[in-house]
Amino acid sequence: SSSACLRTGALCRSWDSQGNLHPGLSLYKLYPSSLPSYHHPPTTMSGKLASEYPAWKKLQEIYASEHSRLILRDLFAQDPARFSHFSKEYTSPSGPDVTFLLDYSKNLITQPIVDSLLALVREAQVETFRDKMFAGEHINTSEDRAVLHVALRNFGDFKIAEAGTDEVGGVLEHMKVFSNAVRSGEWKGYTGKTIDTIVNIGIGGSDLGPVMVTEALKAYSKRDLTAHFVSNIDGTHIAETLKLCNPETTLFIIASKTFTTQETITNAESARDWFLATAGDKEHVAKHFVALSTNTAAVTSFGIAKENMFQFWDWVGGRYSLWSAIGLSIALVIGYDNFEELLKGAHGMDEHFLKTPLENNLPVILAILGIWYNDFYGAQTHALLPYDQYLHKFADYFQQGDMESNGKTVTKGGQRVDYQTGPIIWGAAGTNGQHSFYQLVHQGTKLIPADFLAPRDDTQPDCPLQAPPYPPPEALAFGKTEEEVRKELGPGQTEALYKSKVFEGNKPSNSLLFPKLTPATLGALIALYEHKIFVQGVVWGINSFDQMGVELGKVLAKNILAQLETPADVKGHDSSTTGLIHYYQKHRKE
Ligand code: F6P
Repeated sequence: SSSACLRTGALCRSWDSQGNLHPGLSLYKLYPSSLPSYHHPPTTMSGKLASEYPAWKKLQEIYASEHSRLILRDLFAQDPARFSHFSKEYTSPSGPDVTFLLDYSKNLITQPIVDSLLALVREAQVETFRDKMFAGEHINTSEDRAVLHVALRNFGDFKIAEAGTDEVGGVLEHMKVFSNAVRSGEWKGYTGKTIDTIVNIGIGGSDLGPVMVTEALKAYSKRDLTAHFVSNIDGTHIAETLKLCNPETTLFIIASKTFTTQETITNAESARDWFLATAGDKEHVAKHFVALSTNTAAVTSFGIAKENMFQFWDWVGGRYSLWSAIGLSIALVIGYDNFEELLKGAHGMDEHFLKTPLENNLPVILAILGIWYNDFYGAQTHALLPYDQYLHKFADYFQQGDMESNGKTVTKGGQRVDYQTGPIIWGAAGTNGQHSFYQLVHQGTKLIPADFLAPRDDTQPDCPLQAPPYPPPEALAFGKTEEEVRKELGPGQTEALYKSKVFEGNKPSNSLLFPKLTPATLGALIALYEHKIFVQGVVWGINSFDQMGVELGKVLAKNILAQLETPADVKGHDSSTTGLIHYYQKHRKE
């Protein structure tokens, strides 16, 4: 039985296959059994360049002829109802209540521009590819994989035909029972003590999602369970973290889709050595190490029992994996029920994306605005600026989400693009940003489109919301004219001073206003950006779901590591790399 498993300190995946579910839980049933699995051939793409679409050419013409007239002051003056024309309220179509407002009126757009951008989305067949993704077709063509993070949160009735999607409910059940056992104190360490510390060891998607979400939902966290996240390989990260841990009361979560990532395996080995230095017997590993992975063989050869492995599947991309077993640390920190709310909030956005006409479809709207600045205005970056300290890792998270997805140079058909693809994503929580980089956003020479995300109500009853973020978008959009400056300063000042106080304005932004950061709201916001990235990737004709550049980096790093010890082994590099390795070898022990 489940409690017998808990007493032995090993959780059994067989619970599910034996139908031995925790009494009273019906989650598994929420997942419709998938259609019979079959192998989809990789989806073929036309390989068309975005620049070949008629709408692209039209947008180039519009930009050339109109951009000098796209002045926000004028656009607002010409249309007093601009806010209602260019803002939309999202209400979750299912699941927990989620509402938020997207105001995109402060963008350099008119209705004909929006119409042309939507025509581009249609010409690129975004709806067709969206439907293929939701159906489980292998739209990740280079790796011949489905892209099914939506199947991880399918609390509705999406019919998905892919092996493993029918196991999602079972893994969630495993996560539920395990996280409840740890949080309640039922799961004990090897000396019989309750777990009070968890350490998630992972990197990239196996780290950033759990870090971002546990920070964002700190208000929901179990305060007597401390969570640490170790990702970096440089040794100091794990060493500093272990100083804060007691081997008797610490649970290590080794999070790695492949279970081959050098950083993660090295840190995991360090943690295991540190643990065994006190615990002694390898048997005790079972109560202190669990794995989140797709690679059963590597997990068991590391020494983690199969029963302590939480499985996921190759159709879960690393940067889209917080919804999978990779979310175990989230479930431990905020509780399984809140984790499920997060999934349900995301599912609501999935339904919205799947069923809403393009002109009202929020991921599509964010995507086309991004394309407008990225490809026609030549903006290089996009800032994510949450006015909520809880979201202070949001931009870090979407740096990987967006840049690893859309940082590509060739189309799925293999042609080099002749336009810009993914932007540089960056940002920080307000108002810290205001006191560091906003000067450049306001008065620098670069165009930096930005999204402001902010809660409307207090999350913490004892910490009232102090300042909603209305001033920055307004100042960015409308600036301050020289006439206004002269009036403000009065006569007798130097010309240089008058000029230095002018804000040109006309800086575009979106404002996303949500009631407060609940798990479901956060789920919907993350899914909103995931689908935005998807739409842009389809328009640009690229594969948003592989990461060949990072894979190459991993191989090169391995080659160099293998040669680091002996100068004679250093072969096959350019003179700069060879010189650097030789310098390191000569001086490292000084
Ligand atoms: O950074 C490249 C990458 O492959 C990411 O996509 C992934 O999130 C990360 O490495 C970690 O990989 P894994 O979960 O297999 O350890």
